[in-house]
Amino acid sequence: MHILEKTLVVLLLVFLFNSCNEAQKKPETIEVQVVLQANTNKIIQTVKHLRVRDSFPRTILKGDTSWELVGVRDWCSGFWPGVLWYAYEFSGDEMLKLKAQEFTEPIKSIAYSKATDHDIGFQVYCSFGNGFRLTGNQAYKNVMLAAADTLATLYNPQVGTIHSWPSKPQYPHNTIIDNMMNLELLFWASKNGGEKRLYDIAERHAEVTMKNLIRPDYSTYHLASFNDKTGEFIRGVAHQGYADDSMWARGQTWGIYGFAFSYRETGRKDFLEASIKLADKYLERLPDDGIPYWDFDDPKIPNAPKDASAAAIAACGMLELATLIEDHQLKEKYAKAAKYFITVLSSDAYLSKDTNDALLLHSTGHHPRNSEVDASIIYADYYFMEALLRLRAFEGQSKS
Ligand code: GLY
Repeated sequence: MHILEKTLVVLLLVFLFNSCNEAQKKPETIEVQVVLQANTNKIIQTVKHLRVRDSFPRTILKGDTSWELVGVRDWCSGFWPGVLWYAYEFSGDEMLKLKAQEFTEPIKSIAYSKATDHDIGFQVYCSFGNGFRLTGNQAYKNVMLAAADTLATLYNPQVGTIHSWPSKPQYPHNTIIDNMMNLELLFWASKNGGEKRLYDIAERHAEVTMKNLIRPDYSTYHLASFNDKTGEFIRGVAHQGYADDSMWARGQTWGIYGFAFSYRETGRKDFLEASIKLADKYLERLPDDGIPYWDFDDPKIPNAPKDASAAAIAACGMLELATLIEDHQLKEKYAKAAKYFITVLSSDAYLSKDTNDALLLHSTGHHPRNSEVDASIIYADYYFMEALLRLRAFEGQSKS
């Protein structure tokens, strides 16, 4: 073949390949946009009738229609401003930005008062963290740096972890799997003007959590109790799970996500391995519809309540994994799983639509206390928005 003919054939093949790829990916991308748009419309409607800026949506119990509000010290206070920031990120709507700023502001007090628990990370990173990422506001950065220092006051060097719940004297030093999520604030601070010790604390906390809260079969304890003087591991406890040896769904997903970004921040392969093992355990035991029961070992299954929040967190964690992993097959595996969870959450079975002011139905907060069972809970909405934005970015990346 003449060189010119060869070039034309190659160009034609490239064109056909790209067109097929576009045709395959387009409907998926459009669907994510549609769900994000519908969610944003709903968030705009909800924020219009929320007047009090220092009270935050947390729960809508089954049968109710509007959010029960909590104060700034509640562990869930940061999620609503976070939802507003995500909706602003998607839409660019200036009204949403203003509302996000208004609901973020009162959380500042947490950064400058005595630390009472590890939730400072959830409260500040979801609100100020997203606000800083989207606006670059230096005042937000200062609050985040102060919050990281405040969180670090709960670190016990003898144990090597943050004391998650100082309010529980039955465990002189306890660390919960959820606490993994709040290391992100420490990692962030150490890269943005905070001390190097914040990084060291986060790395050590992840290491000790990996050793003690992950069981040999790669399920997780909710809480580990340690001797606060010697650092000795005493025992693993269920707390919000069904039993001390059961697999509490949301805890497993906090672990998947927390170890994934701990790998991203440290480059430590053992953290990546931990995230993968927890994800594989979760996938192995997951029901076919992609949404876990609140605890994988509740004997009432299949008549036990589901936890949509765990599915949304799992989607975020697995998309983080898919972004970080180089092996093509594994990347596909976790991206596909995440996409499936998001698709199910976006279906009539889980979307609240006109039922109430939340985005999602069917989450479970604290089943053993019969609290927030089969309810709408704000962190489900927060991680649902995050998962949709992550999926959109991931698919955009794979297209280029
Ligand atoms: N961090 C508490 C929970 O996941 O319910």
